[in-house]
Amino acid sequence: MIRFENVSKQYERNGITTQALNNINLTIDKGDIYGIIGYSGAGKSTLVRLINFLEKPTQGEVIIENQLLNQLSNSELRQVRRKIGMIFQHFNLLESKTVYDNVAIPLILNKKNKQTIKQKVHELLEFVGLSDKANSYPKELSGGQKQRIGIARALANDPTILLCDEATSALDPQTTQAILNIIKQINVKYKITVVLITHEMHVIEQICNKVAVMEKGQIIEHGNVLDVFGHPKHQTTRNFVSSVINDQIPTGVVENLLEIEGKKENIKLFKLEFLGRSASEPVMNSLILQQKVVVNILFAHMSEIEKTVLGSMFVQLKGSETNIEQSVHYLRENGVQVTEIKHWEIN
Ligand SMILES: Nc1ncnc2c1ncn2[C@@H]1O[C@H](COP(=O)(O)OP(=O)(O)OP(=O)(O)O)[C@@H](O)[C@H]1O
Ligand SMILES: [Mg+2]
Repeated sequence: MIRFENVSKQYERNGITTQALNNINLTIDKGDIYGIIGYSGAGKSTLVRLINFLEKPTQGEVIIENQLLNQLSNSELRQVRRKIGMIFQHFNLLESKTVYDNVAIPLILNKKNKQTIKQKVHELLEFVGLSDKANSYPKELSGGQKQRIGIARALANDPTILLCDEATSALDPQTTQAILNIIKQINVKYKITVVLITHEMHVIEQICNKVAVMEKGQIIEHGNVLDVFGHPKHQTTRNFVSSVINDQIPTGVVENLLEIEGKKENIKLFKLEFLGRSASEPVMNSLILQQKVVVNILFAHMSEIEKTVLGSMFVQLKGSETNIEQSVHYLRENGVQVTEIKHWEIN
């Protein structure tokens, strides 16, 4: 378990004080994949650097497995650090060393014998799917491959915690997906607690169970990913949510609507928002089966977080005034947020 108790961090540079962290209280449980999301300068990297004590807090305590890092001797601190692996945005591999040597470094520093090192490096390279690259140099690898080596190196001393600082930010979407899958696998297979920093919501959405949203050195919201992003309270959190949930109605849909509008049928347009509490499919199915309206789904953008949907849908409901009203009532009863959209709002 990792705990921050009233942690603040100030940097002093040329007489200027920067409050990088301001009274952070946070508990990361064993086995979590804990996402820390925030815009540039929010204090995310500072927060992770405090976990491995690369930086010391100005105030407060960082506690790992019931040990107050502030109170440890240097050799005790080294012991704790050994159990913390870290991967970075720019991989931080040694360019002059082979892939094998890069992965071996932490083991050499930990004074393991040659045989143990050899066995471990091969096991790790196999785990990240790069056994055939043992004798290559970093410059001969793609970004995704470099990050796999970074991961293998981070796992060398069997850590209990893995810190990832923007580990996928330099990678394309497909490679990002592959790396996130490996991180998930590490969490499950080796039971490693993961702290993952990102400024991208889709990264959180894909593998984290918990999230903390940071702004100006503070945690403005935290908790289960679903609770935080299903019911965002702060504007910054809402911005992250809308970065994956497209709220705009595509142009084609608008044209279609205007055309129907012209026909003067009793059709109404609604925006339905599913905020985690309602699985979209059963609700929509029952609506279609039970209510006396014709349902036309125009556009939907759904995300799935931990098997629960989060997203929005634009639907037309066609039927008598009463039946449409009843349908809206039915949807609201089932936890769907319903907003009617009048045609002038679309233009
Ligand atoms: N070593 C340092 N000396 C002085 N100021 C620093 C130092 N490290 C960070 N800061 C300042 O602390 C604040 C938080 O920085 P931090 O690197 O933690 O943000 P971040 O959320 O990781 O941002 P990014 O997404 O850009 O990586 C910033 O205002 C930054 O300028
Ligand atoms: Mg950073």
